[in-house]
Parts: sequence; structure tokens; C-alpha cells
Amino acid sequence: MALKIGIVGMGGIGNTHAGVYQQDELAQLVAVCDVKKERADEAAAKYSVPAFYSLQAMLSAMPEIEIVDVTTSGYENGSWHYIPVMEALSANKHVLVEKPISNDVREARDMVQLAGQKGLYLGCNLNHFFTKPAARGEQLIAEGKIGEPVYIVHKMGFNGGQAAYAGPGAERWKRPYSHLKAFLAHPFSVLRHFGGDITHVQAYLNKPGVRKTANDLMYSINSVHVRFENGSTGYLLSQRGDAMFGLGGWWSFEMAGTKGTFVIENCVEKLYFWDADKPKDSMASPTPDEVLDTGIKDFGATFPARIHAFLEDVSNGVPPELLRASGRDALATLEYTFAAIRSFEEGGAVVRPEALPNLHGDITRPI
Ligand SMILES: NC(=O)c1ccc[n+]([C@@H]2O[C@H](COP(=O)([O-])OP(=O)(O)OC[C@H]3O[C@@H](n4cnc5c(N)ncnc54)[C@H](O)[C@@H]3O)[C@@H](O)[C@H]2O)c1
Repeated sequence: MALKIGIVGMGGIGNTHAGVYQQDELAQLVAVCDVKKERADEAAAKYSVPAFYSLQAMLSAMPEIEIVDVTTSGYENGSWHYIPVMEALSANKHVLVEKPISNDVREARDMVQLAGQKGLYLGCNLNHFFTKPAARGEQLIAEGKIGEPVYIVHKMGFNGGQAAYAGPGAERWKRPYSHLKAFLAHPFSVLRHFGGDITHVQAYLNKPGVRKTANDLMYSINSVHVRFENGSTGYLLSQRGDAMFGLGGWWSFEMAGTKGTFVIENCVEKLYFWDADKPKDSMASPTPDEVLDTGIKDFGATFPARIHAFLEDVSNGVPPELLRASGRDALATLEYTFAAIRSFEEGGAVVRPEALPNLHGDITRPI
């Protein structure tokens, strides 16, 4: 039976989610909500569902709602997530929340803890690895074709350059760590998806002269070096429209192991695989042994794929620790983000991210 969904926050992304639910047989969109009346009304007319102007009103009027999808935004694109998520969980609803789970790591810890206590699903729209290239990468790892992990290099951000810079932008972007907190959930989620937990973080942040001249507070260039629990290393470079990304585009990922290497280009588009067991000229640019060209160019394809996975997991009643892109996974990305901030503030010190809550049973945090 289709799960009944109410969406909170009818901006661009809330509308994207609404369109996805209307196309997915596992979902029935039954209500929309926005504190801006005109946004709620417009969406209600578009999707033929009732409009609400507060989550409490929506939940009181429609107790049949099973999933609350929180697509609000706020400072650093995450400060308006906490209250609706906590209200929905308190009302015993499963929740899907947009990324970042919050712009405040303490709030994210609370959300994950409450979902655990209540036995509810808390998922996050970490959509960047719900793709065909990522699925092939996972398969290569599972088949032993990557071998012992050696390194990961990941570049993700926004193309641009000096000429394209248009000033500090809206209020949510006017803080030093706006890009880190709003965006690094994505690349950290991809790093962790393929490399596992991260135990050490070291960061250097910067901004180009054009931002400095404009008194733009945001550190838009984020250079982060990590160590994974499995002993391998990783490097993440994210920048927000300060330069053009070269080969691989705005989203490139390279994972190398003792038996093979794969590269994902432009998130949804292509995967290349080089088999290290097959002899190669060590000084030449080797021809890939496999190329997967999905023919998909539209990053928007990640939304239906990720949302369908959440609907499947809730419908199937999976054990909470098997929920894909869970609140705990989102918390991990925020712990890494806050570790990167601390590292930068301590002059590039190596920082160990806070431990995650246990997967099973005891949800208390280590002291
Ligand atoms: N996963 C992705 O690929 C991806 C891409 C872009 C944006 N996002 C995320 O999507 C979220 C939404 O982004 P957006 O650009 O649509 O934001 P937006 O600001 O355009 O829309 C948010 C809406 O939420 C409403 N709102 C805020 N608090 C509310 C509350 N308590 N109750 C009801 N309504 C409330 C606002 O009035 C606004 O209309 C952000 O968290 C952003 O980080 C995710």
C-alpha cells in the first residue's frame, strides 16, 4: 500500500519531491505545508492536495500521514530542519529530511537520538550515490575488483570563475562556513559510502580575491584531507563557483585499490574501470578496461532514485541500521564537517570526528 506523505517546505526542492512522489507507486502525496501561504496554496493547487501553514496544523488535520518530508532550508540551508523534524518524530511519523540534516551538529545528534528512541525511520536526502555509476562502483568493490583500498580523490562543487561572481548572495550564504555546512554533506556522504567511516580530518579553507574584495565572509574553497578507518586516505576538494573544474566536471570521484581503480564522472554520467591485474604501461595514460556510459546527463535523476529507496526501505520495514542514507549517515557527514571547521580554526590540526551513536540498542553517546 502506498505510504501517505506530507511535505513541509514548498520551495524549489519541496516541489521537486512532490513531483517525485506523484510518479512513485509506493507513495501517495496527501498534504503540503509552508509558512508562506502563497507557496503552500500554489503547491496544493498543483498537486490537488490540501494546503497547511504549519506542521502542527497538518498533523492534527491529517493523522493518516505516515511520512513527513522536511524540505525547509534556513541559514546554511539547514537551520530550519530541526523544529519540523523533531515535531514530526514526536508525533510518531517517519521522516525524510533534506541535507544537510542540520547546520548545527548538536541538533543533528538530537534528531538521530529521538528517531532511535521512538523506533522511527529518519532518512536524509543524500542523493548523490543513488546512481547507476555508483551502483557499478559498489559492485566492483563487492566483487573484489578494487582490492585493498589505497586512496580516494573526490572533487565536487560548482563551476564558475571570477567573471561569474555575483556577490555574497542571500542571507543564508553570508557566514564563514555556509558552503561547508550546506554542501559538504554530499561529498562526505559519497566518501563514506565507498570508503567507510572517517577517523581523521585535516582542512584548509580559503576564498579567492574577488570574494575578499567584496567582504564575502564565506570560505568557498574547501580542501580536506582524511584518513579512513580502513587505513586508506582520501582527499576532498570542494569550491563554490570560484573556478572551472577540469577533467571529470563538477562531480568526479576516483577510488583506487591494489587490484583496480574506478572513476565516476559527473555523478550520473559515466564510470571508468582500470583492472590493475591486467598489465599496463606504467608511464602511459591507460585505456580503461570498462566504460559505463549511462546516457544520463540530468543530475535530477538522483531524486526519484533516492526517494524510491527510502519508500522501499520504509515499506519493507528494514531494520533501522539498514536504512539507506539514514539520519545517522547524515550525522556522520556533519561530524566530519565540524571536524573540518575545527581543523581549520586550529591551523590545520588533525581532528578526530566525534564518535557516532551505536548502531544497535544503546543509543547513548560516549562520554
Ligand atoms: N539533495 C539535493 O540535491 C539538494 C539540492 C538543493 C537543495 N537541497 C536542500 O533542499 C532544502 C530546500 O531548499 P530550497 O532551495 O527548496 O529552499 P527554499 O528556501 O526555497 O524553500 C524552503 C521553504 O520552506 C519553508 N519553511 C521554512 N520553515 C518552515 C516551517 N517550519 N514550516 C513550513 N514551511 C517552512 C519556507 O517558507 C520556504 O518556502 C535545503 O535544505 C537544501 O539544502 C538539496
